[in-house]
Amino acid sequence: MAGPVPWHLLPENSSVGSKGQLMIAGCDTLELAAEFGTPVFAYDEEHLRARCREAVAAFGSHATYATKAFLCGAMAKLAHEEGMSLDVATGGELHLALAAGVPADRLVMHGNNKSVAELAMALEAGVGRIVVDAFEELDRIEQLVAGGTTNPNEAPQKVLLRVTPGVEAHTHEFISTGQDDSKFGFTVSTGVAAAAVERAKASESVELVGIHAHIGSQVFRAESFAEAVSVLGAFAQPFGLPELVIGGGLGVAYVEGEEAPTISQWSKIVLDGAAAAGITASIGVEPGRSIAAAAAVTLYTVGVRKDLAGIRTYVAVDGGMSDNPRPVLYGSGYESCLARAVEAPRPLPARVVGKHCESGDLLVRDGHLPDDLALDDILATPVTGAYGHSMGSNYNKVLRPPVVFCRDGDARLVVRRETYDDLLLTDLGF
Ligand code: LLP
Repeated sequence: MAGPVPWHLLPENSSVGSKGQLMIAGCDTLELAAEFGTPVFAYDEEHLRARCREAVAAFGSHATYATKAFLCGAMAKLAHEEGMSLDVATGGELHLALAAGVPADRLVMHGNNKSVAELAMALEAGVGRIVVDAFEELDRIEQLVAGGTTNPNEAPQKVLLRVTPGVEAHTHEFISTGQDDSKFGFTVSTGVAAAAVERAKASESVELVGIHAHIGSQVFRAESFAEAVSVLGAFAQPFGLPELVIGGGLGVAYVEGEEAPTISQWSKIVLDGAAAAGITASIGVEPGRSIAAAAAVTLYTVGVRKDLAGIRTYVAVDGGMSDNPRPVLYGSGYESCLARAVEAPRPLPARVVGKHCESGDLLVRDGHLPDDLALDDILATPVTGAYGHSMGSNYNKVLRPPVVFCRDGDARLVVRRETYDDLLLTDLGF
């Protein structure tokens, strides 16, 4: 018999309301569901801020929030207010961060295969750094500069080179990136990365300020980061560059029994590793998931319960792979609980599924819920603050959910729910 949902998976400022319901930062989740409808992403704003501050305390302005994990205007402003720089990986992320008022010099332009248009946008905006992923990107920057596209301060654009250090992170194949067989960066072991350094140093269009690597995502083993630091340090040291960035990737606990290092523990291992390796460059990081994931729960309404005799119980909710594709993409596990009874034991084995037209559309494969689960109950899935909203889709023309920031008993709508008319906006067929 499964116990209550593990408390540590809930946002930091969660509490139990007078009727046993889940409260987030003083907001009653049942009231959130009633006011904003379901599905809805409910964030604990102070949790987000605390994680940003934790990263900044260790790495200063070299703590860069990876916006791909979760991005909207309010989040971009929040990360900036708390002192983080922002990593944007496409023209779209760049556009949003600039529209939110984040100063361009606090932005780091990422991405593999950046287009001429994206690089031009970055140069013209005056982004602080561009992380170059391939020789073609250096060619494009040089061509743009030769054609008169420069950053507003007209100094050569500061760049880092992304390298693959040959460190295998223990994570899912699709989100592991530091090994040699990778589409990302310049390979260290073959000498290509060293050649890229020479090429960038010789270029008059850019100023090479550092080396960058990202070994993977959802990495629990802090030692992997220490290995990456020492391998990178050994590579970068002879070039005497002032910056070394080791990317993001710190894992978070999603289900019962999982445990991940905190940002502070991670930063200590990284910084101690750098000091032990004699690295004098400043160390930068780009956490995404560890900032945003555990800050949110998604609230759904239960619409169907099917008890298939001798097989299993299916619980269908009003969202699914369009608001959380991670279970389908990576086989990721989640927990679930009833918002009205957050401390209730969960003896009922149940598969929580969505409303999309395919069998693979599941949110919690092997979940547990209270026995008295009924129609119209509000179900909460914790740790959905990263790579849910940002990887969401309109599959089956399902509307993207709203995002609510909860703080001190106030719920602030920061992204409204899509409307059916929003679905027609880009369609010229009418
Ligand atoms: N920096 C770079 C260059 C990255 O590519 C990434 C993530 C990060 C930082 C942030 O990593 P984080 O701290 O969030 O692990 N959609 C997948 C994760 C893909 C991560 C891609 N790059 C998932 O839902 O697990």
